[in-house]
Amino acid sequence: MNNYPLIHCENIYKDYQLGQVSVHALQDINLSIDKGEYVAVLGASGSGKSTLMSILGCLDQPTGGHYFFDGVDVSRLNTKQLALIRNQKIGFIFQAFHLMPYATALDNVALPLIYRGMKLQERQARARIELERVGLADRMLHHPSELSGGQQQRVAIARALVTKPKLLLADEPTGNLDSASGKDIMAIFDACLKEGATIIVVTHDNQLAKRMQKTLRLQDGKLVR
Ligand SMILES: Nc1ncnc2c1ncn2[C@@H]1O[C@H](COP(=O)(O)OP(=O)(O)OP(=O)(O)O)[C@@H](O)[C@H]1O
Ligand SMILES: [Mg+2]
Repeated sequence: MNNYPLIHCENIYKDYQLGQVSVHALQDINLSIDKGEYVAVLGASGSGKSTLMSILGCLDQPTGGHYFFDGVDVSRLNTKQLALIRNQKIGFIFQAFHLMPYATALDNVALPLIYRGMKLQERQARARIELERVGLADRMLHHPSELSGGQQQRVAIARALVTKPKLLLADEPTGNLDSASGKDIMAIFDACLKEGATIIVVTHDNQLAKRMQKTLRLQDGKLVR
């Protein structure tokens, strides 16, 4: 009964309209990803990787085609319905971290739990566990500007994991990290996979891509096999 893929894209297109010019960021994307898969997204700068991640993460809608996530056609849902799916099922680690500058690391990580109607104490307890997991036990009350780039990235990772998402999307998660911190992040992802998550990672890092079961390669907005 539950044997449909977690992700299924049918003829997905994404055009950006800039005045008279339209950019065809994605063209005729067809793909399926099963629950529990570990997938790398590769491609040159501008090939459409982040655009694809935004659609898979229900942050943006395709301009054509259908996107089925967890058995539901999300391509026609409204913004409120999309926000609900994101909060319940998806963790997103952005290329730029998108942390809240005036909130501490702890409050940044606890934030997604507010929409779960969870009490403050429990939100903070869960956020603490995630920050410990990414090695930031001694930085919980720091603001993003008081953290290094790699530490901010780890806060962003903790925030993505705090809701225990089915799908974890990471856009260049080790891009700002030294190789030791990068390895720590890889270990965290491996643990998430063991717990049953599906993970899709945009990376230029061949070491990282080698660990993954499936590779999606984009070129000028198209998937190349
Ligand atoms: N909001 C936007 N409006 C107009 N064009 C856009 C927008 N976002 C992206 N594009 C264009 O769509 C194409 C794909 O962009 P995208 O950000 O997906 O590339 P990418 O593969 O993630 O690149 P990078 O490796 O540099 O992050 C690019 O040509 C880009 O200029
Ligand atoms: Mg990008």
